[in-house]
Amino acid sequence: MCGIIGYIGSKMAAPLLLEGLQALEYRGYDSAGAALLQSGRLDIVRRAGRVENLKTPLNELAQGACVGIAHTRWATHGAPTEHNAHPHRSADARWAVVHNGIIENADALRDRLVADGVAFASETDTEVIPQLLARAEGAPLEALRQTLAQLAGSWALGILCAHAPDALFAACQSSPLLIGAAQDGMYLASDAAAFGDDVFALYRLNDGEMAVLRADSVAFYDSEGAPVRKEAAPFSRRAHGSDKGMYTHYMRKEIDEQPDAVRRTLAQFFSDAGALRLPALLPSSPRRVFLIACGSAYHACVTAKYVIEELAAVPCEAWVASEFRYAMPLIGKGDVAVFVSQSGETADTLAALRLATVHGAHTVGIVNVPDSAIARACALVLPTLAGAEIAVATTKAYSAQLAVLYALAAHWAQAGGQECTDFLDELRRLPEKISAALTSEARAKAVAQEIHKEEHAYFIGRGVDYATALEGSLKLKEISYLHSEAYPAGELKHGTISLIAPGTPVIALACTARLLPKTAANIREVTARGARVFALTGAGADQNTLDAEQIIAVPTAHPLLMPSLSVIPLQLLAYHVAALRGCDIDKPKNLAKSVTVE
Ligand code: G6P
Repeated sequence: MCGIIGYIGSKMAAPLLLEGLQALEYRGYDSAGAALLQSGRLDIVRRAGRVENLKTPLNELAQGACVGIAHTRWATHGAPTEHNAHPHRSADARWAVVHNGIIENADALRDRLVADGVAFASETDTEVIPQLLARAEGAPLEALRQTLAQLAGSWALGILCAHAPDALFAACQSSPLLIGAAQDGMYLASDAAAFGDDVFALYRLNDGEMAVLRADSVAFYDSEGAPVRKEAAPFSRRAHGSDKGMYTHYMRKEIDEQPDAVRRTLAQFFSDAGALRLPALLPSSPRRVFLIACGSAYHACVTAKYVIEELAAVPCEAWVASEFRYAMPLIGKGDVAVFVSQSGETADTLAALRLATVHGAHTVGIVNVPDSAIARACALVLPTLAGAEIAVATTKAYSAQLAVLYALAAHWAQAGGQECTDFLDELRRLPEKISAALTSEARAKAVAQEIHKEEHAYFIGRGVDYATALEGSLKLKEISYLHSEAYPAGELKHGTISLIAPGTPVIALACTARLLPKTAANIREVTARGARVFALTGAGADQNTLDAEQIIAVPTAHPLLMPSLSVIPLQLLAYHVAALRGCDIDKPKNLAKSVTVE
């Protein structure tokens, strides 16, 4: 969501902060700001909108400052305006703060401060922090300790104090914060993507900890202010490579990276002889499986529910994490709870994981960021090896999640004595088939030409095709702002069919051979009302059988693996519709890559 970058060292801070903000912008882009500290003076510049808007004013302000903090915001409390942008400062201009997370007791703290005569300059929850710092007593670290003790909620904080010109303060609670050591200084960042090229070692702050960064050292403290020893992990920026290369958009590049992402991910689970090998820690006969996630990762879970139940005959539930955490789920010992998350930081998924742990379920994480909070909190991690994903709309991480879920399904099928040889044979060949599916781009582009001026579209499918319809529909609406809905093909007539008018585009997934006649009948229900149908099929059906205006052919595979192939043209369709509509494909409005608030 929001992003933090800070620097203290011998280099000019402003260009490093700008580079860091640009690298973080995929996480949130409502507004941005920076504070520079020089000769005991704090200068702050903030702008609504993209980081680009900050460039000139920040460079003009720079004047040789070597200490600074900066932030890119995704608004939660208060509109995305300049005065709500971070850094926020105390009324006495002594403290400047950038913050990721939410201060849950901000209203109560603000009321108390206002009653004491403090004037607030923003509507944010964050501003209570500099105001509390200004009223705390003692040296800056002690003031920080006293302030943190009054906060409830989550925070990753970068803080400057005009009275401590050679220090940058940091603290974290339930929101990631990293410190990078470089030859010429120290960096602070909420995401390693923001670090400069020269960072060679990395420290992670744990919940409740504080840090004091200086040009050539860093010291860590617990919530009582006692020193903490921490080992650095080696770090190389190149390993985190996030270059767009010859592509215009990260999303298009990441679509093409899917065969490799799936190949790498699956390779972890097959022996040289081709046998499926999952970690011994994985329970082999769960009583029930709960699949829990948000957004696209949830759609991977919906797909996996069909796959696990059909292949392994294990009862399975797919849950949206924000629902699971406040439901009274009947989960407990003997159950396996699988948490699927690209970032590994999604607040609702993390909360659901904590709940499942308390209930005694065995927890498994399917996570793309190895050192993330979800990865660290799960009893077992089955990593997706998709590499850094920069486009807000996920593609390669989603495909890698499906790959791990397939391996899990096959594992439980084998352990339960269910036949799955064909499935496994085809699973090994999935990366090649995904490469073949990428050749559907011309067809997807042709359909994009037909529908990009529409206001509404509907996606239909049955079984795993329905799960993929959910993902295809989300992809389209999130990046192109063309409203779309996904429905189980047989369900449309129970209400939503009233929205089908002459010319309404319907994208029909008919990739499951055994359900083809049923889906074909549902297609006729909409064409009878004038819909224009664009059908995806790998089941060998033609335009006439499906009563479709155009067909996008998908390579064939085991029916339960088809979602990995049919999602590819849907990603490409969304991409080309968004391009034709002139949308900001990698950074769709209002969305964030990593949702660290509830
Ligand atoms: C956000 C992103 C989605 C993503 C979801 C879950 O909403 O925009 O693309 O699927 O969060 O994120 P996670 O990191 O947990 O997979």
